[in-house]
Amino acid sequence: MRALKIYYCTRRKKVLLLLCLVFLYGFKLHIENGVQFNFININSNEKCEIPKVNPFDESILPFFWQPNPIVCAKNTELVYIDDDEMIHINKNRTKGKHIECYYQSVIRKQLSDDEILFGTSVWFNVSRSALMESDFAKVVCVFEGKNIYERLHYHIKKKQKYFKSDKDSFSVLIFGVDSMSRLAAIRELPKTLTYLEQKLGAYVFNGYTKVGHNSYPNLMAFLTGNYSAPFNKKTFFDNQPFVWKKFSERGAATMYSEDYPRLSTFNYVARGFNESPGDHYLRPFYLGINSERIYQSIITEIFMTLENNDIALGGTSALCYGDSPKHVIQIDYFKRFLNKYKNNRKFAMSWLNEIGHEFSNFLKLGDADFYNFLVFLKEGGHLKRSILFFMSDHGTMIDRIRNTPIGRIEAKLPFFSIVLPTILKKKYPHIDHNLQTNINRLTSPLDLYKTFIDIATNSYNPQPKGTEAIKNSGISLFNEIPKDRTCTDAFIPESSCACYTSEAIPTNNAVIENITSSVVGTINNYLKPHRSKCAVLILKKIHQAKLIHSNLKHLELGKKKAIWQYLYKPKLDKKQRYFIIFEVMPSEGIFEVTTEITQTNNFIILDKIIRANRYGNQSVCIDDRDLKPYCYCKETTLEVQS
Ligand SMILES: *[C@@H]1O[C@H](CO)[C@@H](O)[C@H](O)[C@H]1NC(C)=O
Ligand SMILES: *[C@@H]1O[C@H](CO)[C@@H](O)[C@H](O)[C@H]1NC(C)=O
Ligand SMILES: *[C@@H]1O[C@H](CO)[C@@H](O)[C@H](O)[C@H]1NC(C)=O
Ligand SMILES: *[C@@H]1O[C@H](CO)[C@@H](O)[C@H](O)[C@H]1NC(C)=O
Ligand SMILES: *[C@@H]1O[C@H](CO)[C@@H](O)[C@H](O)[C@H]1NC(C)=O
Repeated sequence: MRALKIYYCTRRKKVLLLLCLVFLYGFKLHIENGVQFNFININSNEKCEIPKVNPFDESILPFFWQPNPIVCAKNTELVYIDDDEMIHINKNRTKGKHIECYYQSVIRKQLSDDEILFGTSVWFNVSRSALMESDFAKVVCVFEGKNIYERLHYHIKKKQKYFKSDKDSFSVLIFGVDSMSRLAAIRELPKTLTYLEQKLGAYVFNGYTKVGHNSYPNLMAFLTGNYSAPFNKKTFFDNQPFVWKKFSERGAATMYSEDYPRLSTFNYVARGFNESPGDHYLRPFYLGINSERIYQSIITEIFMTLENNDIALGGTSALCYGDSPKHVIQIDYFKRFLNKYKNNRKFAMSWLNEIGHEFSNFLKLGDADFYNFLVFLKEGGHLKRSILFFMSDHGTMIDRIRNTPIGRIEAKLPFFSIVLPTILKKKYPHIDHNLQTNINRLTSPLDLYKTFIDIATNSYNPQPKGTEAIKNSGISLFNEIPKDRTCTDAFIPESSCACYTSEAIPTNNAVIENITSSVVGTINNYLKPHRSKCAVLILKKIHQAKLIHSNLKHLELGKKKAIWQYLYKPKLDKKQRYFIIFEVMPSEGIFEVTTEITQTNNFIILDKIIRANRYGNQSVCIDDRDLKPYCYCKETTLEVQS
């Protein structure tokens, strides 16, 4: 017996030791992810060249891999809420057993954004359903005197107040994913991006730059037009001039959803909101989840660290609640909002923190779900009178990737895109034209704020140039953003500015000549499938060559060095990049290309080779849209055609 006890004890200690090691390992990874170096831009007063960077640069590839899919419990939901706001027991799952359930509404406590109360119990059963009294409820089901089910459920309970029809105005739908750089979206969300660009015709901005370190200043910038409003730990943000108020005053239904209650933007820095910041507010639901399992929040973070390192614990993922990944719940809440207020004017903002914030690899687990959401938006007709902003606030923050030269650049350039309703585009072609121009200009969340104001006030007519450059304020993206804009002009601080600058160099330089003739060779390679139709291009002249400077400089911190600063060193940017403009024969086509010398003394082409002059009908002999700018139809093909 005693031997057994000792055996048991040592066994238990081993288990404890193992758990302890697992946790310590989790913390170690946590710390490594948090190592940060300060870099600032030393040329934020110069004309901005939008950085072109390779999303698949070898220095960052080791950080990306395919995590295990999110596995949640399956078909365990015992109740559901229908479109008529009734809650039912799902007969399919009770196996004919006599089950009774009750729900308690989840109620926000007064003067607090962190506490909730549960309302009185409302009973329902298989033959008698119940009407939901609010958006969220804790549901408990009882069988033979035992609690067999306890879970939070959500839906949209339509507010009993007047909402305007959306017939002669437009709505704003923001679908935000925290900490998602433009490059991360390219790497991690191929399905979503293809649909966004090709089916929805999105404008994807290459120069949208953050204005502050974390979410708070960047969200404040586009939601209030001012990222320097003072606050302290006790501040409630209700009095800030949030742009959704401008929509609400004009009859719009509003929704604000942010997951991960501990890290929610306005709660992380201060106390969040006293009153609900919208007609519908998802936070109490997440608080309800956490109140069920007090320690869940911190444990979830450790589990996610381990999952991020491919160590799976337990059968279901830390990213689930019940049967669904949490990001799917948030998307579903958004969908229910859109369906409920289908023909009303709306301002809706969904901001996903958990899936991208800590670990950029989890982002790809959202690709299929984000894609499905976009399909829902389009096919459900939700984009007919709504402008969609699929976007982020900044790039990856905590990952080790940020300590690479590419990571530093991409951290400053969040993903940002706009989808316009077709009727808006048709009615105001100058907006389409300006947006196409602006995707390659320096822009910021302050410009987005001005855009929201235009939408709120139905201001779509062209504005005279140069009327908008008021201090601390942006320029609506519906207007043309100046070509020579600097970070300073755009109120982007030097710690956020990613802009490159460039310096003209002689064109008769062996390296430039070598690169340029290779680029011409590359174009000829693109045209190979059409060799019988398109002429072989020959380099005629190099018009211009520029050496590109990355302006980020490492700032050593003062005396107070943390231990990690001795252990880790930032990787510095040693790459050489050139911008070249050249002309070819016989088309007299002029092209622009940005190249980067690789370690093997070879080079790669960053982004596309851009045709800079008109190609008119030079390429009528081929249909391939991507190749038309390059092809010069041989005389013979033209003769045959005419
Ligand atoms: C119950 O099962 C039937 C048949 O599979 C299905 O059509 C129905 O949607 C299910 N009901 C619910 C509430 O899941
Ligand atoms: C459901 O509840 C109602 C009211 O409490 C009760 O009259 C009815 O018998 C119940 N039905 C079942 C199947 O339990
Ligand atoms: C932004 O807020 C700061 C601090 O309250 C204030 O000084 C500044 O005038 C504000 N800027 C604008 C454009 O409202
Ligand atoms: C030109 O490029 C080729 C191959 O990329 C290389 O072998 C050669 O040394 C280069 N010449 C110059 C002058 O850089
Ligand atoms: C191409 O356009 C030019 C002028 O725009 C015109 O003169 C010429 O006939 C066109 N050629 C063909 C093949 O359409």
